[in-house]
Amino acid sequence: MLPARRRLPAQGAVVVTGASSGLGRECALALEERGFHVIAGVRRSEDGEKLLAESLHGRLRPAVIDITDEASVRASAELAAREYGALRGLVNNAGICVPGPLECVEGDQFRRQLDVNVVGHLEMVRAHLPLLRRARGRIVNVTSGLGKAAVPFLGAYATAQFAKEAMSDALRRELAPGGVRVSIVAPGAILTPIWGKVSDAGERVLRDAPPAVAERYRAAFTAFMAGNGQQALASRTTPEDFARAVARALTDVRPRTRYWVGADARRMGRLARLLPDALLDRRFGGITATVGASEAAPAPADRTPT
Ligand SMILES: NC(=O)c1ccc[n+]([C@@H]2O[C@H](COP(=O)([O-])OP(=O)(O)OC[C@H]3O[C@@H](n4cnc5c(N)ncnc54)[C@H](OP(=O)(O)O)[C@@H]3O)[C@@H](O)[C@H]2O)c1
Repeated sequence: MLPARRRLPAQGAVVVTGASSGLGRECALALEERGFHVIAGVRRSEDGEKLLAESLHGRLRPAVIDITDEASVRASAELAAREYGALRGLVNNAGICVPGPLECVEGDQFRRQLDVNVVGHLEMVRAHLPLLRRARGRIVNVTSGLGKAAVPFLGAYATAQFAKEAMSDALRRELAPGGVRVSIVAPGAILTPIWGKVSDAGERVLRDAPPAVAERYRAAFTAFMAGNGQQALASRTTPEDFARAVARALTDVRPRTRYWVGADARRMGRLARLLPDALLDRRFGGITATVGASEAAPAPADRTPT
């Protein structure tokens, strides 16, 4: 029989961002149940009240935290310092997904994607580090199977996830000497409200693009989005699986660098590690096969001379 994996007790305080819905909500409630005191970051106080109504152990405290707002980030650290004096964990879970062919993603949207999924998390880390150091606490950065392989039509999101992976690697190396450990939790598809938001945003992307550009991508992008939705519906990975991985990252005596959640995420990571770029390109080629199919072939004079 394998020896039981050694765990630290689930004690002390943890901040979870993006706790109003989906994975963050599940994680905040599960960490509370295990014994942690949880500061659950939401953007609207009504969401905090709803979460509080679901909390069963009197150890969850909602707080309004918008990770892109400097004052809000500072207030989160001040609250944690005042109430708990130190932090056992910071779970950087909040996120958005800006879908679309990159040609259709406007600069503001791209910046917003990076602001929420990357810059906001660094600001949270910087503000909470003194408290994390005090408890030799842990940072858990939530990325995705797309943190290692950039699927077409989710280029903005994948860019942010790659960046968050790189940020996690650098933080892990920089913070280890001070006793703060950094892990990545990388989930595959899990049915949460994010998928409905992505689908709505996908429709807006084509509507807002110049008609000729929208036409070029419409068939391929629409089919991709439908397949994406199906993948989420069919996924057998649950928010509980995700919360379990976060709890392990916070309590494993030797936390892993990365916890994959779901077979699809693990497979994507393996493919990205093992396949040369050309084979990965071929694998994703089916997604973009019909791009531009509706356009007439260019006249010979328009062709770039070779
Ligand atoms: N579900 C999946 O299949 C999946 C797969 C891989 C990775 N992930 C990652 O898992 C994380 C959670 O996703 P989810 O599926 O639970 O999505 P979700 O249900 O849409 O939850 C996203 C959370 O992030 C919050 N948020 C958005 N912008 C924020 C900001 N500026 N400041 C603070 N909070 C903000 C949202 O708050 P509001 O309610 O106020 O908007 C919400 O609480 C994300 O980082 C996502 O990239 C999810």
